[in-house]
Amino acid sequence: MGIEPSRYDRIAIALHWLIGFALLGQVAFGFLLDEIAPRGTPARTGVINLHKSFGIVLALLIIARLAWRLAHRPPRWPDALPQWQRRAAELVHRALYVCMVMMPMSGYVASNFSKHGVKFFGTTLAPWGADLPQVYGFFNGVHIVTAYVFTALIVVHVAAALKHALVDRDGVFSRMWPGPHAPARQLEIFPLRRRRRRPHAF
Ligand code: HEM
Repeated sequence: MGIEPSRYDRIAIALHWLIGFALLGQVAFGFLLDEIAPRGTPARTGVINLHKSFGIVLALLIIARLAWRLAHRPPRWPDALPQWQRRAAELVHRALYVCMVMMPMSGYVASNFSKHGVKFFGTTLAPWGADLPQVYGFFNGVHIVTAYVFTALIVVHVAAALKHALVDRDGVFSRMWPGPHAPARQLEIFPLRRRRRRPHAF
């Protein structure tokens, strides 16, 4: 058994921020599809295919992230972090990973049960499924419901991260922030207010 690190490693941090911001863009792109290119307009096919292509690139990054996460243990929680917060964080993180897998997979599977298939940045990937509107409808429904659940989880995740960074200032945020690899306590990007107020131990 190895020693638990005190912060995430560089690859985990790079993948977290790259995929995090890309996902925000892709979710927004998905919800805005009808505004950008309303159904039945000539622009629709090209815009949908761009959404599909970005989604496939994101899926590859998500696979890399998941593989890295499974092969590397996350850092230990700060000692002072209440048990319920650890449980809540672990639950939300797991749910975020499930959504990260479900989003591209449901979109990809749905598209393969439609005659349109996928055009990956101009290259046609012939659909491996039959043109079955009901099957397409089911997976598209999964895609849409997951998008709402995912959005809600992202809001909770970002709110909790900001609370740790700005209110608690307990070292949780800086574990996922780029910086030199030293104990999280020394890396606090927002100085520890509470620690300064603490009376001297001796
Ligand atoms: C992480 C990746 C992805 C995210 C976050 C995402 C997000 C979204 C969102 C938010 C919507 C709008 C849902 C709504 O109507 O309310 C949408 C629609 C759609 N997505 Fe994705 N998507 C992803 C990947 C993919 C992939 C890989 C494909 C296909 C290869 C795909 C195909 C589609 C299609 C066809 C629609 C439009 C459905 C319709 O016409 O109503 N998506 N996506």
